[in-house]
Amino acid sequence: MVDFDAIRAQFPILDQQVHGHPLVYLDSAATSQKPQCVIDAESEYYRTINAGVHRGAHELAARATEAFEQARAKVARLVGADWQEGQEEIVVTGGATAGLNLLATAFGNASLGRGGAAAQRFALKPGDEIVVSKAEHHSVLLPFQELAARTGATLKWFDLTPDGRVRAEDAGEVITERTKVVAVCHVANVTGAITDIAPIIRRTHEVGAVFVLDACQSVPHLKIDFHALDVDFAAWSAHKMYGPTGVGFLYGRRELLEALPPASFGGSMVELAWMDQPAQYMAPPERFEAGTQPVAQVVAAGVAADWLRGIGMENVEAHERTIAAELLKLGDIDGFRILGPRENVDRIGTVAFDVDGVHPHDVGQYIDAQGIAIRVGHHCAQPVHRHFGLYASNRASTGVYNTVEDAQALLEAARGVRPFFGL
Ligand SMILES: Cc1ncc(COP(=O)(O)O)c(C=O)c1O
Repeated sequence: MVDFDAIRAQFPILDQQVHGHPLVYLDSAATSQKPQCVIDAESEYYRTINAGVHRGAHELAARATEAFEQARAKVARLVGADWQEGQEEIVVTGGATAGLNLLATAFGNASLGRGGAAAQRFALKPGDEIVVSKAEHHSVLLPFQELAARTGATLKWFDLTPDGRVRAEDAGEVITERTKVVAVCHVANVTGAITDIAPIIRRTHEVGAVFVLDACQSVPHLKIDFHALDVDFAAWSAHKMYGPTGVGFLYGRRELLEALPPASFGGSMVELAWMDQPAQYMAPPERFEAGTQPVAQVVAAGVAADWLRGIGMENVEAHERTIAAELLKLGDIDGFRILGPRENVDRIGTVAFDVDGVHPHDVGQYIDAQGIAIRVGHHCAQPVHRHFGLYASNRASTGVYNTVEDAQALLEAARGVRPFFGL
């Protein structure tokens, strides 16, 4: 039995009052709070071993490099990726957005003939297709839309069911022999729905295309094994998995990382550089990690990964499901509509809702006045809002530190919204 009260007690930020009420933080889909061990790891790194990694011959540099590479291995273990030297499948990025842009840029570079014959599997040309879904965060939609514009490829997408799920059953029609890249979310950041990715991945591979997973909202909440899922690439951010801001990870199947051309260029990614000849790039992951890396943040993200594994992702999943069940009662309040699946099945504790007759910002402000933090706006996912006939919404989302009482506090506050606005 995991003691989730003891886990909650590890988050110092939660022990405070907001507007005279105990803080209830229900905005983990935007960013999670950090346990003390993660906060300590970052400052401990600066206090004891801070140095440039992969460079200096001095002892501190060796220790910093060791800590950096160990963190990579810890993150790999959380998601079922390889970490042995020469087999690494985790690339350090600035976050999910940076990882997705890295991929789209690298595919664009391959389309220009960069990376030689091996990279041609990523090359796009007019007539080729890139497939996303209407549920995507803009950090998936826009890089791949841009890639389509740069290469002349056509952008296509999966439509959604009335309750906002990606229509995976359409994989046979949406993904065709012309499809080269398929990029979809594992869990949608507005609806909280888990995408049925298995048939999409099967079809993607049947036509010889590459499958990219946006794992931002799944890695912190679900047990993940990228090898078992047969995913080609996956991107996510450390700050949503109890780690620091400014850092994220890109998983790539080793064979694919080896074939992928680099997307950014500079120090620490090159074996040999000349004035009059092309540079010879390093093997992955360094090939994709140009410049000085956010080492302290990566080290702390490794601590976050180990900390999550220590709780057990099955336990995290089960705990958050109990809170999701409570949050879904928002849909029972007069004038409230859940944007996403109403049943507590194949979803996480991210619950977006619309309140008839009250602007989402007014709803958010009213709820904030009770010390409850939820998100308002379009959550960087405008097409899915259009699907629901809206521009913006409110969104409550869970983390390991939330309790059923947190959800009940939101429910109580939510019941007061429409009466407060005279409805
Ligand atoms: C599903 C999803 N994908 C991608 C992102 C982008 O993450 P970041 O802003 O950390 O790069 C987010 C962040 O909200 C998200 O929820």
